[in-house]
Amino acid sequence: MSTHQQGDAFENLLREDRRFPPSAEFAAAAVAQPALYEEAREQGAEFWAGQARKLLTWDTDFTQTLDWSDAPFAKWFVGGTVNAAYNALDRHVEAGRGDRVAIHFEGEPGDTRTITYAELTEEVKRAANAFESLGVQKGDRVAVYLPMIPEAVVTMLACARIGAVHSVVFGGFSADALRSRIDDAEARLVVTADGTYRRGEPRAPQPAGAGALARAGHTVTNVVVVRRNEQPVEWTEGRDVWWHDVVDGASAEHTAVPHDAEHPLFILYTSGTTGKPKGILHTTGGYLTQTAFTHLNTFDLRPETDVFWCTADIGWVTGHSYVAYAPLVNGATQLIYEGTPDTPHQGRWWELVQKYKVSILYTAPTAIRTFMKWGREIPQQYDLSSIRVLGSVGEPINPEAWMWYREVIGGGNVPIVDTWWQTETGAHMIAPMPGVTATKPGSAQVAVPGIAIDVVDELGKPVPDGSGGYLVIREPWPSMLRGIWGDPQRFKDTYWSRFDGMYFAGDGAKKDDDGDLWLLGRVDDVMNISGHRLSTTEIESALVSHPSVAEAAVVGASDETTGEAVVAFVILRGSAKDDDDIVTTLRNHVGKEIGPIAKPRNILVVPELPKTRSGKIMRRLLKDVAEGREVGDATTLSDPTIMQQIAVSLRK
Ligand code: WTA
Repeated sequence: MSTHQQGDAFENLLREDRRFPPSAEFAAAAVAQPALYEEAREQGAEFWAGQARKLLTWDTDFTQTLDWSDAPFAKWFVGGTVNAAYNALDRHVEAGRGDRVAIHFEGEPGDTRTITYAELTEEVKRAANAFESLGVQKGDRVAVYLPMIPEAVVTMLACARIGAVHSVVFGGFSADALRSRIDDAEARLVVTADGTYRRGEPRAPQPAGAGALARAGHTVTNVVVVRRNEQPVEWTEGRDVWWHDVVDGASAEHTAVPHDAEHPLFILYTSGTTGKPKGILHTTGGYLTQTAFTHLNTFDLRPETDVFWCTADIGWVTGHSYVAYAPLVNGATQLIYEGTPDTPHQGRWWELVQKYKVSILYTAPTAIRTFMKWGREIPQQYDLSSIRVLGSVGEPINPEAWMWYREVIGGGNVPIVDTWWQTETGAHMIAPMPGVTATKPGSAQVAVPGIAIDVVDELGKPVPDGSGGYLVIREPWPSMLRGIWGDPQRFKDTYWSRFDGMYFAGDGAKKDDDGDLWLLGRVDDVMNISGHRLSTTEIESALVSHPSVAEAAVVGASDETTGEAVVAFVILRGSAKDDDDIVTTLRNHVGKEIGPIAKPRNILVVPELPKTRSGKIMRRLLKDVAEGREVGDATTLSDPTIMQQIAVSLRK
């Protein structure tokens, strides 16, 4: 394993023996009861059939729970038909819950909107009609490039309603990244905005978006533009239309047609170990079942009274599963906030918790560590007593951050649920159940009921308690990815070829003496920067696409706040100059090629890169350099003096 956390984390977790059992009061009233685990163990896949029928409203009941005959291509709830938008919207209105708030929206400048289930249902119906009038049909792909505004959720649900497949592209990705995703999915419609706000400044994604569209393939027939802040828009007559022109005037009558349980719901691109991001495909019935199940049980959700706030952007899977889908399917009230945590001041999140009486907060360790740095005095100025469950996601949470979260944000007595999962898994896979599990700072602990997790060695044999290895999933699960868009072979190769008959997650993990799981970070070339997935090769490709760069190697170096940070080593071409300018130029170049989140923290110009005799770059050694450690065993290098040369050039 080559993760930075490993050394330190092992030390820490060997010392970690604190336990926080739920209070008797919490346990007695909890949504998830211990019997859930027994039930799941006894029933196997049928456990999920029960949940699917309990949590969703089906148009046609399914006849088979799981078809695994064409493994690793799974079919769940075979023969069933269901509409995701109907489940998220109409059925709540029909049941008399139309007046319940679905979304409290707070824009970065402080503008607010309160949207009830009845209103959201109407808006989605209008959008569905508008998209259909633009020719969008079932199965067509729709690219979504929007800030965190209600229209993002409306767009996703409108697509789901008509059976169009959304492909949300994070607003922080560049025009080029958007273009390659539009092309790969052959999107027909693009929904974007004229801008957003970032740190108090109006910002326009649209010029970048428009540039990308102009160069995109000819599959895009229309672009719908939401007016958010009146930034200048590059407009293509005949192709581009305003949201308010096509949606506001559309009819609010629209019947949700049932879709097959295995109808594609969305594609979401994520970084893998190669340069090209993979389009992860999720389908309808299984995805909705497991996201709704986990949202309810992991967070101890009470839809009538809770205010749920997941801080993730809809551009990531967390924003799909726990903003756009599960909270609405479960009929909950949620907060959506457009901006950054420090605008206009560093107490903004806590002000929001106080204002909306947020009771369940779900965020990433990187955010928690940032707040730790800003100081506990800031959250302590606000009334956070509404909080009763705290969630963590995206990267391993260090015990210090876990304790701070519990004490400073949770007032010392609320359960913390550390949830491990991936874009590919669709929903939580490992997480304590509040009210059942005695939590341990830093550990995601136990598999979700109905999920078969294991840690295995190089040969695929389960490791004993007290040892580490590779995290695998032994049985198919309802919200599993159904493939990689347009590339079935890559799906098999990436996830199902490392260990026979098991899904290989790409993470290292350890079982402690109680058999609880500790996540140790990626074992492949995927980095985790502030909980965002980026691949080393993707950034290397971006760097070498610049005319000054001959070769590049990228590593993730541990970083106190962001978990990992991008550190790049580059060899310049003969004519290029090694100065501050080149570093700035290359950082900006990566920003343009992939997006600002991918900009390396450091770019180090070196004369050579360490390679094995077979020509493979030894990232492990570069990581030692990037983390300021003594360089490890370099005997397999083709030229053992290279690390010295690098050290000398960096000292200069
Ligand atoms: C990491 C985000 C430790 C892990 C939902 C995984 C975590 C990758 C945790 C997926 C956690 C996510 N503890 N590591 N609780 N949650 N990860 O696809 O390395 O953006 O493989 O999905 O994030 O990132 P993705």
